[in-house]
Amino acid sequence: MREVDDTGRACAVCNASRRAFVAGTAAAMLSGPARADEASERPKTGDVFVEIEDAGKTPLRAEKMKAGEPQIIAWPMDPATKTLRDGSRLNKVLLLRVEPAKMTEDTKARSADGVLAYSAICQHGGCEVVNWIAGRDVLECPCHNSQFDPRDAARVLDGPTPKPLPALPVKIIDGVIVAAGAFSARVGISQT
Ligand code: FES
Repeated sequence: MREVDDTGRACAVCNASRRAFVAGTAAAMLSGPARADEASERPKTGDVFVEIEDAGKTPLRAEKMKAGEPQIIAWPMDPATKTLRDGSRLNKVLLLRVEPAKMTEDTKARSADGVLAYSAICQHGGCEVVNWIAGRDVLECPCHNSQFDPRDAARVLDGPTPKPLPALPVKIIDGVIVAAGAFSARVGISQT
């Protein structure tokens, strides 16, 4: 239907606006919601990882991780669509490397060549576990100082958090760190 202005003439601006609106709505229906959903979904098998400050979206490689060095905080990314799963902060993952000989068997089974991944979100109050206690090789939440042992399924060593950090199994494909499954438990704040 063509719109007309107050004089009864066809309104070119109105019709152009209508076409733009229809085109925009169609594009949003095709890509917008799908992009939003994909970005908010939890990590999936096959996802790669990108450091949160890396605008170039370079997949993290195992050689970047050194045993005894602090954790890296990263977003999972679908390698096919290059969609970062940054639609939920609960998707943030911490990655680090530990000597395999120092890991428990459960932890070793989720690791790849010493590389480990855990949820970066502390289940006590939802803060990001960004502190690293060098020498002890222990992860620490900066909010209330809960401490976690990355060699033993992020077991709680100290502090008020009720649970370890959920683990994310990984593998290495052509040097790139890749998710090998889903989180071992629900991520985010948990008081039980
Ligand atoms: S939020 Fe991590 S210890 Fe409280």
